[in-house]
Amino acid sequence: MDGRPIPLVWHAGPELTSTARRSQSPSAWSVGPLGHWSPKTIFTVVTAFVVATTTFAFYFVNDSVAVDFSTTVVWAFNYRNVSAPALDKPLAAINLPRAKTTTSGNDTGGYCPPLKNISNLNKSNVLHLEETSMDTTESLVFGDMKDKILHLVEGGNRHLRAPSLQTTSTSSYDGLLDSLIPLGATVGNYSYLPGGHWRPRHCTPRWKVAIIIPYRHREYHLPILLRHLVPMLKRQLLQFAIYVVNQENDLPFNRATLMNVGFLESLNFSKWDCFVLHDVDHVPLSDLNNYGCTNMPKRMLSGSDRWNNKIPYRTFFGAVTGMTRENIRTINGFPNVYWGWGGEDDEIWRRVRAHHIRIIKTKGPTHFYKVIAHHHDSAPKNKDRKKLLRTFKSRFNHDGLNNIKYARLRIELHALYTNISVDIQKL
Ligand code: UDP
Ligand code: BGC
Ligand code: MN
Repeated sequence: MDGRPIPLVWHAGPELTSTARRSQSPSAWSVGPLGHWSPKTIFTVVTAFVVATTTFAFYFVNDSVAVDFSTTVVWAFNYRNVSAPALDKPLAAINLPRAKTTTSGNDTGGYCPPLKNISNLNKSNVLHLEETSMDTTESLVFGDMKDKILHLVEGGNRHLRAPSLQTTSTSSYDGLLDSLIPLGATVGNYSYLPGGHWRPRHCTPRWKVAIIIPYRHREYHLPILLRHLVPMLKRQLLQFAIYVVNQENDLPFNRATLMNVGFLESLNFSKWDCFVLHDVDHVPLSDLNNYGCTNMPKRMLSGSDRWNNKIPYRTFFGAVTGMTRENIRTINGFPNVYWGWGGEDDEIWRRVRAHHIRIIKTKGPTHFYKVIAHHHDSAPKNKDRKKLLRTFKSRFNHDGLNNIKYARLRIELHALYTNISVDIQKL
């Protein structure tokens, strides 16, 4: 789909029904008054009616609530008030600026080919999900350039600690990527900058993608994910960087606020076109799973081995999702009020739909993920999550990017990613 207009998808409404009706032979419609119907016909009609209404009700309810049946009715009504029109809206045209040359490198070619024309992509990679160290992953990615790269990264961190960059004002970090250019290197056909920023040299990338990973104490997972993700993004010929947003306090984990922080902080490095919000324990199987910015907002995952290669419910919007910069700004980012496990992704789905933006739901094996064995407990469940979900409508204008407060504790460049450590507090 790269670079091509996105087809408009319309829901089957009355028109389709009448088309279907037209294709019926007239005799099928020449049913007389009720009294003339045979018991068999009445039975068939009543059964069909019950099946149709039940199916419709289930579909509607499932779309609206997704998770918890006990709140079905309230949610169904809330949801219908806000976002029913979204069902009939065509896709908004995605008209993003092309990636600009912000890092060092000689462009000798035009735009990089769209995904479908890239030849060395693997339909299904063999994934190594066994424990590995960051050191091993760095060796795999950089080969004999590793020592040189680590040296440049050290220089990058010294540069970040320079007095001119030591201020609490975010704006002082603007264009941070450009300031790292003197510490760049060439790795194969890529330009590399400390902090794991990559840009193809032989062609102009179509998209600039920031990968945002909400994170705390998952040292076991990160090298396994990066071992697969970095080479895959390079094969897709994207300009990209990986931002690990590390919650550094003892409050319950807050995935959505960390994603807000990742969005804002990554934009201080460069004006990314789009963002992939990526759980650290999900590894994509196929190089054809497009991490470029077309068709967003997008549920990148069509199934994972955890759920038998399915998604848990129709409106699931967790794990790995893609959104453009404009999408995220439009919905005022992500809710800051979800502390602990669950619910925040369900609210993000609702925010997007409430703004009449269509969500692309990927399908098939191209979008399967493997989940790395946990070796940890999930964050404690957020007991308020269902109540919060019910009130999303009254909150989304003032809960998100426009009210977030956080202390940026540290930005550290690593060879394969940039770490942003933050202390986030309840507002
Ligand atoms: N996460 C984290 N540390 C935590 C809890 C969550 O890094 O203590 C991040 C991590 O990226 C993880 C995501 O949030 O993949 C979702 O959390 P988790 O995997 O616990 O959710 P589950 O898969 O159990 O729904
Ligand atoms: C939670 C979501 C979670 C999903 C799948 C739902 O009940 O609200 O946050 O992603 O389950 O685990
Ligand atoms: Mn997980």
